[in-house]
Amino acid sequence: MDDENSISRLNEIGRKALEGLEKISEASDLERWKVENLGRSAPVMEIFSHLTGLDSTMRPLVGQAANRLKQQLEKAYGEREQVIKTAQLKNSLETETLDISLPGRQPGVGRLHPVTQTLRQITDVFSGMGFQVYRSREVETDEFSFGLLNIPPYHPARDMWDTFHTTTPGVVLRPHTSPGQIHVMRQFCPEPIRAILPGMCYRYEQMDARHESQLMQVELLVVGREISLGNLKGTLQEFARGMFGAEVRTRFRPSYFPFTEPSGDMEIECFICSGKGCRVCSKTGWLEILGCGMVHPTVLQNGGYDPEVFSGFAAGMGVERVAMLRHHVEEIRYFYGNDVRFLEQF
Ligand code: PHE
Repeated sequence: MDDENSISRLNEIGRKALEGLEKISEASDLERWKVENLGRSAPVMEIFSHLTGLDSTMRPLVGQAANRLKQQLEKAYGEREQVIKTAQLKNSLETETLDISLPGRQPGVGRLHPVTQTLRQITDVFSGMGFQVYRSREVETDEFSFGLLNIPPYHPARDMWDTFHTTTPGVVLRPHTSPGQIHVMRQFCPEPIRAILPGMCYRYEQMDARHESQLMQVELLVVGREISLGNLKGTLQEFARGMFGAEVRTRFRPSYFPFTEPSGDMEIECFICSGKGCRVCSKTGWLEILGCGMVHPTVLQNGGYDPEVFSGFAAGMGVERVAMLRHHVEEIRYFYGNDVRFLEQF
């Protein structure tokens, strides 16, 4: 190809390409045009590969002209692309219906876990009666979990609170909040005490509808002069009314705990069967929500109080049990199953 020819060939390539571009109205055709006219084997690219065969004075002229054409084609392509996109958008706006009255997607809103909500309600009721909240540790020593609570190593009652042992001998995950009794007493002795102690507890349990290996408890401790069993019953009944309504039916039954004497359980009429007997209440019609009793003299002594002068009562309740009663939940395992379909109902 001679030099003159190169220039007129470039003009020809440009004319044809632009003509073709003019006619395009579909994105797919535009893509094809780009490959044909700007791709590696496009005519304008071939001019570049023939440059070496040209006369050295003409070479830069043809090279520059080819470059200009390439840029011109790229610019035209860009403009056409814009035109086609705008037309496509206009078209889809006209033909596809967009319902702007549809509500948007609601972002998920966090909330308190039902056990935390229940714990706060329990705290409310007790603070109304002048109780203070005391936090105690979750990892405890054997001594505080059992020994100081009047449960010596050989005592069969230890089976009731079989728990998880750490690799450090004598250090366990607390199986109940009762070790906190000793901590509070030692901190406040000889002052009178009216405290609740909430927190997680861990047990080696046979799991079923009412038992989990992890549970939240609230311990109750009152120590003072002339604290009686009547104070215990009155306080707990008042709590039950505050929590479940004035109509709630409760009952006390004798029980056994090494750290209280006498000991009892408070039960609430089963919400599922209204006392008739069902799976949840093991056919008894009642659900136990707490253990309680008068603080054992040995425990008072371990806390620093003289049992001849001071007396007290204590109780321990399962917060999940209370939440089950309040919200009519039949399975304790739902609380820690982490299923939002359950959790978002509260
Ligand atoms: N700690 C006992 C339990 O976990 C409950 C309890 C607490 C009983 C205080 C009496 C007094 O079962």
